[in-house]
Amino acid sequence: MATAVHDLIDTDRDLLRAQFRRDVLTGLAQRQKAIPARWFYDHRGSELFEAITRLPEYYPTRTEAGILMAHAPRIGRMVGSRHHVMVEFGAGSATKTPLLLDAIWTAAYVPIDISGDFLEEACAALAQRYPDLPIHPVEGDFGTPTRLPPEVEGHPRLGFFPGSTIGNMEPMAAADLLRAMRSTLGEDSLLLIGFDRIKATTELVSAYDDGQGITAEFNLNLACRINRELGGNMPLESLAHRAVWNDERARIEMHIEALDPIRFDVCGRRFTMQAGETIHTENSHKYDPRSANTLLLAGGWEPLHCFGDAEDKFMVILARAIGNEQTA
Ligand code: AVI
Repeated sequence: MATAVHDLIDTDRDLLRAQFRRDVLTGLAQRQKAIPARWFYDHRGSELFEAITRLPEYYPTRTEAGILMAHAPRIGRMVGSRHHVMVEFGAGSATKTPLLLDAIWTAAYVPIDISGDFLEEACAALAQRYPDLPIHPVEGDFGTPTRLPPEVEGHPRLGFFPGSTIGNMEPMAAADLLRAMRSTLGEDSLLLIGFDRIKATTELVSAYDDGQGITAEFNLNLACRINRELGGNMPLESLAHRAVWNDERARIEMHIEALDPIRFDVCGRRFTMQAGETIHTENSHKYDPRSANTLLLAGGWEPLHCFGDAEDKFMVILARAIGNEQTA
């Protein structure tokens, strides 16, 4: 039974709009223009991302689902027989969440997502499949410690953060996010988290620059959103999608490149771009098991087990919240 999405009061919506405006205006004024990737996910952006996850070139989603499918019984045994509240950071993905719900004793399911519409759709689908499961969606930014609904108090928590979304953060921000999750979930909690692995550059780049142009549309949807929501007039015909591998930082970068010298306005402010100049829109960091473990430890999580696939493309790590005891 799905309850209505927790009311996001008007001041929160206004705050989000103000943050979007601030991030865009600040980001476009920088020497290397940059806009945080979180703003990709309006309703259209969320739809496009779902389409990306089904692309032949985009291996992470199906590889992670394969790992969860293969290892769900073992994960279930490691989590144990106490009924956990499953807290998913990001709206429930139609394919992955049920794999866990089928294998883990779950008292309730709490998805936290910034896109209320998308959250509602995801919850409706899950409620149909699990009519007896209490579902308590929370609309908000999971990057900050979040108060869970009172209905789920008293149960141990299992955080679920699939999809290698952690890779979209710089390592320092990723550690902050892990700490925020620890504080949202509490001391006696577990976290199951997906990391995309470092691999051949060609495979990585084509995953972010697919043949059908869906990732390009996803990237350029940000410019459409700026035009629509911030009274912008970015010339879409002069903008192109770029995906490049930054080896030093072990990450794929997405950029929006100006094909011609352009000028445009956003919120009444004028911006210019030279031909070839870019707006940096996303980082997708890739990890190996050691760097992933180091990051988890920095974020307050002790890795318990790493589940992988036969081709070492992706890994799902189960971790436990580190208590407050002193270490050497
Ligand atoms: C959400 N996130 C994990 C995706 C990724 O792979 O970094 C976002 C994405 N961007 C382009 N394609 C997919």
